[in-house]
Amino acid sequence: MKALILSGGKGTRLRPITYTGAKQLIPVANKPILFYGIEAIKEAGINDFGVIVGDTKEEIKEAIGDGSKWKIKVTYIEQEAPLGLAHAVKIAEDYLEDTPFVMYLGDNILKEGVKGFVQKFKDKNPNALILLTSVSNPESFGVAELDELSRVKKLVEKPKNPKSNLALVGVYLFDKNIFKAVKAIKPSWRNELEITDAIQWLLNKGYTVESHKVSGWWKDTGKPEDVLSANRLILESIEKDIKGELIDSTIEGKVIIEEGAKVIKSTIRGPVIIGENTKIINSYIGPFTSVNSEVIIERSEIENSIVMKKSIIKNLERRIDESLIGREVKIFASSRKPMVNRFILGERSKVEVLQ
Ligand code: DAU
Repeated sequence: MKALILSGGKGTRLRPITYTGAKQLIPVANKPILFYGIEAIKEAGINDFGVIVGDTKEEIKEAIGDGSKWKIKVTYIEQEAPLGLAHAVKIAEDYLEDTPFVMYLGDNILKEGVKGFVQKFKDKNPNALILLTSVSNPESFGVAELDELSRVKKLVEKPKNPKSNLALVGVYLFDKNIFKAVKAIKPSWRNELEITDAIQWLLNKGYTVESHKVSGWWKDTGKPEDVLSANRLILESIEKDIKGELIDSTIEGKVIIEEGAKVIKSTIRGPVIIGENTKIINSYIGPFTSVNSEVIIERSEIENSIVMKKSIIKNLERRIDESLIGREVKIFASSRKPMVNRFILGERSKVEVLQ
C-alpha cells in the first residue's frame, strides 16, 4: 500500500499562527502535528508516501525532507490551490497508480493510529473504508448516515441539519476505483471537489464502502482550541525524562526536559515538556504546557499552553493560561512610566488584557 498525506490548504482559522507557517507543522507536545500521522502510517507497515503540498510547500519539504528520518520514501505532489480533498486524490493518480492507499489529512491526530484500520481494509477488501466517530458538533464535519444494519447509507459534507452525530475522521482507505469517482463529481458550493461526494458516488454506483468506528480520541486541529486540546491529550501519555539541568527547582509529575535546557529556581508541574536549550528562570510551568526549544521564560507563570521556538516571556505578574504563542514572540511586563500597554501585533492577533 501507499500513503497520501494532505499538507496543502490555507489554515485560515489558525491565523495569525498560519500567516508564517503551515498549520500541519504547529507543534503539539513539541512535535509537528504532521509527524504524528507519518509515524502512525509507518507503524502500519507503509513506507511509500505521497505528500500533497500547496503554498507552504517549502516549509513542509524542509520538515519532512527525503523521509530518511523515518526510513520512508517521499514524493511531493504540488497542488496549485486548495481545490478540495478529492482534487488532491485526482492529481495524485500518477503517483498512486493502481495501488490501494491510505489518505491522511495532515492536521488530524488519532490516538489509536491507523494500524487496525489498515488491517481491516486488507481483511475485508472493500473499495473504500472510512473512519467515523461521534461528535457533539457534526455540522463542522463530513457526516455519515448509517442504515439499521450499520451500513453506510449517505455522506454529507458539513450539513446544516445533520442526520447523525457520526463525523468522518480525516483518514480514508481507497482502492483504484476512487479515481473514477473524483473524475465524475462536480465542485461543491464552496468550490471544492469534496471527498465525501466522491465516496457517495462510489456508494451510488454499488461499490463497497465499509466504516470503522474510532475507539480512542481523535482531533482535527483546525482551530486554536483544538490544537490546545490535542496538546493536552498527547501530554497525558508522556513519561518522565530529564536530560537538561535542574538548579534549585521542583519537578512534580511527568515532565520531559530536553538536552541543553536549564530550569533555575522554578517549579514545573507535569505533564509538561521543555524543549532543547530553553531557559526557565524563577518561573512556574503548570500542567499541559509544551515549551519549545530556545525559549526563555523568566519571572512568569504559564499553564495549559503551547509556546513555540525562540519566544521570550518575562516579568508577567499574572499567569498565562490556554494560550498559543507563536515563534519568536516577545511578551514583557515593564515598570516604565507612563503605565500603559504597548503592543506590536500582526493582523488577526488576539490579546486578552486583564482590567
Ligand atoms: O478532519 C475531518 C474532516 O476533514 C472531515 O470530517 C471532512 O469531511 C473533510 O472534508 C475535512 O474537512 P475540513 O474542512 O476540516 O478540511 P480542511 O480544509 O481543513 O483540509 C484538511 C487537510 O487537507 C488540511 O491539512 C489541509 C489539506 N488540504 C485541504 C484541501 C481542501 C489539502 O492539502 N488540499 C486541499 O485542497
